[in-house]
Amino acid sequence: MNFTSNKNFEVKVFFVYEGQGLDMLTQETLEYAQKQLLFKGKAGQIYSHLGPRTENKILVGLGKKEALTTNILRQAGHDAGAELNKHKVIKASIHKITHPDMDTFGFAQYLAEGFMQNDYQFDRYKEKPQPKTLKLLSFEGYKDTEGLEESLTEIVNVMDGVSMAKDMVNLPPNELTPETMAMLAQQELGKIGVSVEIFGEEWIKEQGMDAYMAVADGSKNRPRFIQLSYLPLGEEVPAVALVGKGLTYDTGGYALKPAASMRTMKCDMGGSASVFGTIYALAKNQIQANVVGIVAAAENMISGNAMRNDDIVSSMKGLSIEIGNTDAEGRLTLADALYYAATQVNSEWIIDIATLTGAAVVALGDHTTAAITNNDDFLAKIQASAEASGEYVWQLPSYPEMRKQIQGEFTDLVNVTGRMGGAITAGLFLEEFVEKKPWVHLDIAGPAYTKTGWGYLHKGGTGIPVKTLYNFLKNRG
Ligand code: BES
Ligand code: ZN
Ligand code: ZN
Repeated sequence: MNFTSNKNFEVKVFFVYEGQGLDMLTQETLEYAQKQLLFKGKAGQIYSHLGPRTENKILVGLGKKEALTTNILRQAGHDAGAELNKHKVIKASIHKITHPDMDTFGFAQYLAEGFMQNDYQFDRYKEKPQPKTLKLLSFEGYKDTEGLEESLTEIVNVMDGVSMAKDMVNLPPNELTPETMAMLAQQELGKIGVSVEIFGEEWIKEQGMDAYMAVADGSKNRPRFIQLSYLPLGEEVPAVALVGKGLTYDTGGYALKPAASMRTMKCDMGGSASVFGTIYALAKNQIQANVVGIVAAAENMISGNAMRNDDIVSSMKGLSIEIGNTDAEGRLTLADALYYAATQVNSEWIIDIATLTGAAVVALGDHTTAAITNNDDFLAKIQASAEASGEYVWQLPSYPEMRKQIQGEFTDLVNVTGRMGGAITAGLFLEEFVEKKPWVHLDIAGPAYTKTGWGYLHKGGTGIPVKTLYNFLKNRG
């Protein structure tokens, strides 16, 4: 789907505040619509008059002007797109609308995002894919068309990054293995100037990444350690490291998941997908921020080589870890990936993104990312970016008393604790490996994937938190 400006197409879309006059309609239609109480401009309301001998207009409600949020706009764009597709419309014009508290181009971006969220579909496994009809949308009435088109290009690039992350999550685990994930990253990011280095198991062992290897060893799909460098400011300027959990499948290992909870565990590389998507968006928009992406990709399986509950392994940092539960594999891969990011990369700040714990979902539900940090100001900035992106991030506490839970009986650390506060103790485990660098941990076990669909997000991978990370890195200054 493409965007343009000031092209007058036959079908017109009007976004309308509740209570606003409907003078875009002819008197006859207006009276009809009002008499029948068909449309009041409430958020979520649509009135469409499309087809031969109609006004070819659709009205999309935004609710009360003073209650407008960016997610209402995204949802409205999404719903308008769905309505246009339902009527097999190919091109449409969007009547200009603004809000006193919102940047005009930002306003257009939120709508455009909604249209793109609606446009997304993962249909490559269908015998007869049904492509959406809507191909071109024109934003009308803007004087500074250059500024507008720049803003639209920016959001298209961001949403392409989001879609890339969604696609990677939606790909089945028999297709998306550590190896093919690395190849995909190479293909998509290499061509836009991001340096992509891929290391195999010999290198991983040389680094002493024993915790990571313990997870990887159970699968015939061998691990790949992926490092992305996007350094527009030059190598000397320290980067933000984005470390993504990259389990292409998580069976639980010998602590095997029951079938129902194993379902959708293809999403266990959602953290790494968001790293790829974010760096894609940054590079496409030539954002001036140094970023390094790190993914320790592996598959958690069962075999004669797989780790056991009770095994003791080392780590790149040298700390010994007792494996209390093979299903707490994410923190083992991240321990080495984070330590690498902290010590082998010219990094200043570290963010890890991981579908890490079911406990985060129990605590905060499906829609909210759980955050842990060693630096409250850093997290506050990420939360501000989340807010602007329409994504939800909530901080969990990490008090010193909780630390003794991750201490092992016979080892330095143990990868599993009691059930209570499981999202927090998982975060504290990771903190051991960031070498006191400012760090934020984002547990996206809830929002990475939606089984039911949610607002403008369709069933499957959500691309969360690509928008948050992009906005954070763009505005970091
Ligand atoms: N990948 C899972 C966490 C997860 C749960 C992601 C639900 C997405 C949706 C993780 O590796 C895991 O299995 N965690 C265990 C940890 C436990 C054994 C300490 C969990 O949450 O049950
Ligand atoms: Zn697991
Ligand atoms: Zn996992």
